[in-house]
Amino acid sequence: MVLLYTLSMTFCVLIKTSGYEVLASGRASASRIRSNLVRLSHRDDTENSLGNSLNLGRNANLRATINFKSRGNASPISIEGFEPGDTAPEFQIKTLDGEFVYPPRSGLNISLIIHAFTNKSAFLECLWTSLSSLSDLVQYLPESCHVLFLTFDDMAARDALWMQEQIHRAATLSHRKDVLSRLHISPVPVYALGNWIPNVLYSWGCSGHNCGLAQVAFTSTEWDTPVVAKRLDARYDWLMGRWDQRSYRVIDAGDGCEPCAALAGAVAWVSEGNCSFFTKVQNMAKSMAAGVLVYASLGNPIQDMNCEGEECGTPLGIPASMVHVEPAVVSALLRKQPVNASFQITPSANFFFGIDQQGALAQMGWFLYPTFRFFGWQAQWFDYLGQLQERLRIPAQVVTVFHNTLMHGDKGAIATVELQADMVNSDVLELEVALSCPGRRDETCPHWDHTVQLFVCCDYFSPYCNRELGRWITAFRRGIGHWLTDVSPLLPLLTTGKCTFTMKTVPWAMPWMASLNLRFRSSNYSGSALGCAARVVEGAVPNEHGTWLYGRGGWCDGLQVNPWIIDISSQLPGARGQTKERAYNCRRSTQCWLVAQIRGHGAPAPAFALNYAVNRRELSSPSAPSANSEVQGLNMTGSNTILYFGLYEGQDPDPRSNPGYIIMSSYLVLYN
Ligand SMILES: *[C@@H]1O[C@H](CO)[C@@H](O)[C@H](O)[C@H]1NC(C)=O
Ligand SMILES: *[C@@H]1O[C@H](CO)[C@@H](O)[C@H](O)[C@H]1NC(C)=O
Ligand SMILES: *[C@@H]1O[C@H](CO)[C@@H](O)[C@H](O)[C@H]1NC(C)=O
Ligand SMILES: *[C@@H]1O[C@H](CO)[C@@H](O)[C@H](O)[C@H]1NC(C)=O
Ligand SMILES: *[C@@H]1O[C@H](CO)[C@@H](O)[C@H](O)[C@H]1NC(C)=O
Ligand SMILES: *[C@@H]1O[C@H](CO)[C@@H](O)[C@H](O)[C@H]1NC(C)=O
Repeated sequence: MVLLYTLSMTFCVLIKTSGYEVLASGRASASRIRSNLVRLSHRDDTENSLGNSLNLGRNANLRATINFKSRGNASPISIEGFEPGDTAPEFQIKTLDGEFVYPPRSGLNISLIIHAFTNKSAFLECLWTSLSSLSDLVQYLPESCHVLFLTFDDMAARDALWMQEQIHRAATLSHRKDVLSRLHISPVPVYALGNWIPNVLYSWGCSGHNCGLAQVAFTSTEWDTPVVAKRLDARYDWLMGRWDQRSYRVIDAGDGCEPCAALAGAVAWVSEGNCSFFTKVQNMAKSMAAGVLVYASLGNPIQDMNCEGEECGTPLGIPASMVHVEPAVVSALLRKQPVNASFQITPSANFFFGIDQQGALAQMGWFLYPTFRFFGWQAQWFDYLGQLQERLRIPAQVVTVFHNTLMHGDKGAIATVELQADMVNSDVLELEVALSCPGRRDETCPHWDHTVQLFVCCDYFSPYCNRELGRWITAFRRGIGHWLTDVSPLLPLLTTGKCTFTMKTVPWAMPWMASLNLRFRSSNYSGSALGCAARVVEGAVPNEHGTWLYGRGGWCDGLQVNPWIIDISSQLPGARGQTKERAYNCRRSTQCWLVAQIRGHGAPAPAFALNYAVNRRELSSPSAPSANSEVQGLNMTGSNTILYFGLYEGQDPDPRSNPGYIIMSSYLVLYN
């Protein structure tokens, strides 16, 4: 639930001019932007313990400059065969529509998802029979992505025709027959492929998290061997209950639409239909059942059991799974023979893997529930990676800070690099960051999502030592995170000579392997002959009248103005001096952004520094930014003043001539 209130124009906005017409840096050149730095964060609140602990070392604690980089280079776990990131060899496979050849002869970079079906998995059965899953496949697969469908089962040719029928039906219903040319179905079973693909499927085998074969093993005194049936657990994000590792009694409870006596501690055997899955599970929980098995009517597929609408507001504490109707179970229960059930997962080959646009093998992550929409999301990621590679091809001076360096514990990852004058004088700084795991598989990745912060210190005596240069959020058990973050406005934190970088997350997080490249380059925007032509891709209108091609310090004819957005959550009321829990809540549940629309002819937004005073009589002088370290939390009841100003070499700028004009509006937006 997101509650949004907008305090629009609640704040009086001043442009501090100090006697000049406007304050801006004029036709800001790269070097001038660099100098316009003030501390945007004036208080180290209790949450900012990472920053604080780093500051302790500021007083010439030279130990901190030791380069730990080489120590952290744990060698990746090597497992024979193929691993994620390895180059996919060429192959060709017979499909229902002729030969599929990889890489495609067209030379185009496509991404490919390879999926092998088996009807021994209830999850896959549901993936392939649910209409919404199939329509997600035809509607959300990005154009760059092809899918190759295989099957593990003996009746591969029959399965292939069945898959084709399922896909064709969904494509017709969704009016997306265009997608069919990117979906390739092979009638050759996996065990007969005669190429490297089975090696990946088998060696990336798995159990659990909808991979592997989830099953119920029924036993009865009457039978010599257990009856093992595939099962699909109810939607993970709906039912929190989990099956224990024990044998449960199974008791028939009709259609489960009414509570039922004598179920205590047993698994309720319930038919589908007549009422919702939610009603069944709720009734069985009221009847003290330990769990519910809903069986599909004869001929019906297994469904993804989920709550709907208001039902979802009522938490239920018992597990539930769906199975096919088992005649042996039905007849034993009819004859009042005891039947027991236990729940198991039999490991299997993997059902999915991908090949990204660079031709590297990739894992597909966890599919939270059975829908092909997860193909779409992974393929969008492949597109993103392809575009990232494009952006990385732009020439830049690259300084490697971390290369698969262990990031763990209080220290995180630390490295010192030497920066040259031409680097820190460039006007674009991008951080290329990748977070991978100790091993090559996602299975070795840390759990949970945490903040990762990057701090830099180029001068231990400077107040800017160990200020934050970048921030990311870790992925939950996936080692593919890779980002390119433009932090050009923070270039002034870097100076020529040795700079020490520290990247860390919470000390209790499992280890990550961090990579960081600094990419320095010139934007060509200011002053170059084609500076604005280079921004047509961002929406600058091409082929205008006049000299629209020239770069002009961030101003281009026919270009939208991107809002300048700053997260000031940490300065919300109460953050100061509160307990850690309180401060944590504040950051987790509430975000507060300052959004400013700023554009003056010749004045790119980052030339401005933000300063603000809240319910204070005196605004601090921009020439003494450190005086602001006492800024209080926002107080919504009084009138508040925000002061924006820019600095040139720590002082008010002194433009020789009128630098232009500035139009500005700002909003404070609170998300609750
Ligand atoms: C395909 O990818 C390769 C390597 O990433 C790149 O060199 C090549 O230019 C790309 N080809 C096309 C047509 O995009
Ligand atoms: C999959 O198995 C179910 C029962 O286990 C069956 O009803 C269905 O026809 C099978 N589907 C295919 C494609 O084999
Ligand atoms: C069947 O389940 C009941 C209840 O959990 C248990 O006491 C009993 O030992 C089980 N019987 C068998 C044969 O596993
Ligand atoms: C649905 O309810 C009707 C009437 O109570 C009953 O006869 C029928 O067996 C129920 N259907 C199932 C699938 O249990
Ligand atoms: C942009 O700058 C780079 C490096 O300074 C240079 O190699 C490139 O030719 C420039 N591009 C344009 C369009 O001016
Ligand atoms: C907020 O400001 C108003 C007006 O200046 C003042 O009366 C009130 O005490 C302040 N509240 C807090 C919590 O500081």
